[in-house]
Amino acid sequence: MNLADLNKVALAMVTPGKGILAADESSGTIKKRFDAINVDSTEDNRRDYREMLFRSQEAMSKYISGVILYDETIWQNAKDGTPLVKLIEQAGAIPGIKVDEGTQPLPNCPGELVTVGLDRLAERLKKYYERGARFAKWRAVIDIGSGAGGRGIPTMTAIRVNAHALARYAALCQAAQIVPIVEPEVLMDGDHDIDRCYEVTQRVLNRTFQELRVQRVALEGMILKPNMAISGKKCPKQASVQEVAEKTVRLLKSCVPAAVPGIAFLSGGQSDEEATAHLDAMNKIGNLPWKLTFSYGRALQAAPQRAWSGKADNVPAGQRAFAHRAKMNSLASTGHWDAALEKQAA
Ligand code: 13P
Repeated sequence: MNLADLNKVALAMVTPGKGILAADESSGTIKKRFDAINVDSTEDNRRDYREMLFRSQEAMSKYISGVILYDETIWQNAKDGTPLVKLIEQAGAIPGIKVDEGTQPLPNCPGELVTVGLDRLAERLKKYYERGARFAKWRAVIDIGSGAGGRGIPTMTAIRVNAHALARYAALCQAAQIVPIVEPEVLMDGDHDIDRCYEVTQRVLNRTFQELRVQRVALEGMILKPNMAISGKKCPKQASVQEVAEKTVRLLKSCVPAAVPGIAFLSGGQSDEEATAHLDAMNKIGNLPWKLTFSYGRALQAAPQRAWSGKADNVPAGQRAFAHRAKMNSLASTGHWDAALEKQAA
């Protein structure tokens, strides 16, 4: 492992004013997104859609530091035969790859999941590196149980096995000279309030960093991708933007060592503008030991997906929508966003 080089890539992923495009939807997830815009999820349509994003010169060269790809996409070529990975590199962004293989039910813990994909991961990482990937992603999913049926979810079991797998993955990535994005996602589904999200996320992050240390992962060569401290979607009392920002910053400061170069949030089902406003408010607080930026999937892609709707004629409109969201989040990554900028574009 060359830690100086891993650190250089990690810092490039969180360059001020830039963030990560999470375009690593699995075949099942991209089908759901395409269903919503009445587009068939064929291999060609998936390629055309992602080619549209990666050829968005303005968004990709100015606001996007890296792109997380799904296995299918990393091997795909654009219509003219250029590998999609090359389009990303030509725009000055870094290709990355989602390497987990999804979730399975966790035995003895009804309703909880464990992320799988460690078997043969070392071999797969080698091939991804040869293809150009310089970072990877593994997502653990932690649900918060609610009400009578909640049975005290998450269990300590789910937190521990998922943290263990995240650290195993991260260590394997660094051995393959690939920067791991460590993503322990506490879901925002449910009716829990922001303080419950805070408390669960704190347990999850503490356990995750404990495992990372046990497994000798170099913190300087990784990126953390967490959820924010936020109210559950069905909670009647929704925390304000300022409360989300203050609590998330406090939470991260208490759990994430300063050796970690950067934190790139997932959007997790927040609206486009909420995800931007929250990131902006955190960066306005400032004085943080790590860079704080975005690694959004839905909050970057919902608008371009609608604008494109599967039609070649709509590619420029899709690219404009993508450039706008990328620019708004770029401004938020340095605390320079303003809600008025959204209205100007509308
Ligand atoms: P969302 O921003 O849509 O949550 O996706 C980010 C991601 O990569 C989830 O794993």
